[in-house]
Order: sequence, then C-alpha cells, then structure tokens
Amino acid sequence: MADPYTPEPAHHFTFGLWTVGNPGRDPFGHETRPPLDPVEAVHKLAELGAYGVNFHDDDLIPPGSSEDERNSILKRFRRALDDTGMVVPMATTNLFSNPVFKEGAFTANDPEVRRYAVAKTLRAIDLGAELGATTYVMWGGREGVEAEAAKPVGAALDRYAEAVNLCCAAIRQRGYDLRIALEPKPNEPRGDLLLPTVGHALAFIGELEWPEMVGLNPEFAHETMSGLSFHQGVAQALWHDKLFHIDLNAQRIGRYDQDFRFGAEGIRDAFYLVKLLEDSGWDGMRHFDAHAYRTEDREGVWDFARGCMRTYLILAEKARRFADDPEIAEAMATAGVDGLHQPTSPGGLSSEALDELRAGEPDLEALAARGAGHERLDQLVTELLLGVR
Ligand code: GCO
Ligand code: MN
Ligand code: MN
Repeated sequence: MADPYTPEPAHHFTFGLWTVGNPGRDPFGHETRPPLDPVEAVHKLAELGAYGVNFHDDDLIPPGSSEDERNSILKRFRRALDDTGMVVPMATTNLFSNPVFKEGAFTANDPEVRRYAVAKTLRAIDLGAELGATTYVMWGGREGVEAEAAKPVGAALDRYAEAVNLCCAAIRQRGYDLRIALEPKPNEPRGDLLLPTVGHALAFIGELEWPEMVGLNPEFAHETMSGLSFHQGVAQALWHDKLFHIDLNAQRIGRYDQDFRFGAEGIRDAFYLVKLLEDSGWDGMRHFDAHAYRTEDREGVWDFARGCMRTYLILAEKARRFADDPEIAEAMATAGVDGLHQPTSPGGLSSEALDELRAGEPDLEALAARGAGHERLDQLVTELLLGVR
C-alpha cells in the first residue's frame, strides 16, 4: 500500500529557495553547508512532491549580476521549472542583508535609502510577476529600532504605509495579478520591529490606500516568539479575509527565531493550525519558511524538507479523525460548542431586542455552577495526537 503521507503537488507545499538553501550560519558560527544551486533545489523539491518554490530577488539573481548573467540565470531557472512542473507562487525582496539597510529600508530615516528600498522592491515585483508569482511577501526585517529616540513610530508608520502604497500603485500601473502579504515579527534582527504581530499588521492595512490589495503572511515562529497563539492569529486573519499566505515552521516560546522543521516543536499548536486551514477550505499555499538544523549535511536538508510535508499530512489526517470521532463530537456537544454559533441577540440590534436583553433574568447560580467539560474534551484531543485513538 502506498504511504498515505507522501506529498504530491496537489497538496500545494512550497519552500523558499532560502530555506533548503540555508547554509547553517548563525550569529556565532560560519556556514556548515555549501551553497545550493536554485536549479538543484527545484529538481530535488519536485522529486520530493513539492508544488513550487519562492524566492527573494537576491536568492535567484545574486546582487551585482550583469544583464547577461541575469538572463542566463533566468533561462536555466525557467528550464528547471518547465522540466519539473514546479511553479513560483510567491516572491519577495531582500531588504535586510545589505548594510545600506542597517537603519531601516522602507522606514529608514534617510530618504535616499528609502527610495532605494522601494526601487529594489519594484524591480523584485517585476521579477516575481515575470515568473508567475501572485503573492508578494513583505517582511520588514530592518524596519525597527534599538534606540527609541531615533525613530518616532508614527512617522515610521507613515513611511511604511507610503512604501506599501507605492508598491500597490506599481502593481496597478503594470496590471499584475499580484497581492501583497505583510509578514509580522516582534523582534530580530532589530531590537523591536514595526508591525510586530498579526493584530498590528491587520490594523495597519486599514490605513492603506488600497487595503483590498494587502493581506497577511503570518509565521508560526513569529507569533510564538511573543508567546501568542499562532492558531488564533491565523484564525483571525481568515475571519478578516486577510490570510494571503502562510509561513509554516516550529518555534518554542520566548526564544530566538528558530525556524525549525514544521512540527519539531509545538505539535499541538501545529495540529490546531493544520485543522484550521483544512477545515476552512483555505486554498492558499502551504509554505515552509524553515531550515534544517545547523548540524545537517545536504541529505539532512532533504530529510528536513520531507519531514515538514509529512508532518503536515499526518496532522491533516488527525484533523479528519477528529471530525469523525463520535466521542469527540459528544464532548464538543457537552462543551456547548454549537451554542457559540447562535446569535447572542436573536432579535438583532433592534430597540425591541435591546429591551428584551435588559428584561432577561437568567438563573445566575445555575449558570455559574455548570461545568464546561473541557478537561475531557482536551484529553481526547491529546490522546488522538498521541496515537491511541
Ligand atoms: C525571518 C523571516 C523571513 C521571511 C522571508 C520572506 O527570517 O524571520 O521569516 O524568512 O519570511 O524573508 O520575506
Ligand atoms: Mn522566522
Ligand atoms: Mn517568514
């Protein structure tokens, strides 16, 4: 029998070139792996069952490449895509590696740096659109500060919004079928980053010129770093119709941005996340923004990539079992989950409905004495995940 957890293109798993290509550098140590040719990444990921690859402008076209070099890189890369059937659903810009961005990119105090950051992004948008990307991710790795006195937050947000608006204007000008997905992160590499959480980013979108063109790319590690529930952040993004893309990986609360293999930590959070995506019928990419441990050689990198997809499929199966489990259904009924789907005021917002609310006299003692049945329900989920149901 075929292994039921074998990834296929229909599952829409994608990886950044920078993820499998991560050379294992950290703030204390040099690279532990040689560079990975993007063409090799495409072939190997296709062989493993992935659907596509994403890239930063500089991952594909090294900075400083001549026009001829650019063309030959693109030709080889396109051929790899054609040969494998892999696609490029998302593209992004590196606005963090070059020292010119040390004080910020879209929100640098120096207008000349800001103009360069926007221009680099406009070129990267052209490159992404040329390769068929329909989502453009913006992660503001350098948009932040350590010395608060140097960066009035309101002005920085004005400039951030201006940059996003300029990118939207360019997308409209060229008629691209492209939406922007902002990626929140609380800190690292800056002491504090702007748009630190899903909530901050959602509110920011409401102030933009074309809010309908902009949504979110939440990352498991980033919400978890702050001790927030990723599942809840993603659920709210879905509720606002703003989940444009997602970065899946693993992370322990309170640590540096670990970007571990999906499911390597927080298996329970990972389960609720997969269940949410699957139950909601979300049709976007399941993108892994993670990398192999620094201990690994190339073979370990492919084990890592396989592991990300396999864990997702195992958790998707657990989500189906959850839905089919009569005892879980009964425990959910006991917990009154259905009640949450009923409106609080059946009469709506009318004056009569308000009067009816005021007139209500519930038996507070009886209501307060009622148990919620959460312990039993929660234990059933634990047992499902531990493989004994
Ligand atoms: C991080 C970020 C990045 C972005 C990537 C795409 O390293 O913390 O998650 O990996 O996702 O730059 O914008
Ligand atoms: Mn990350
Ligand atoms: Mn990310």
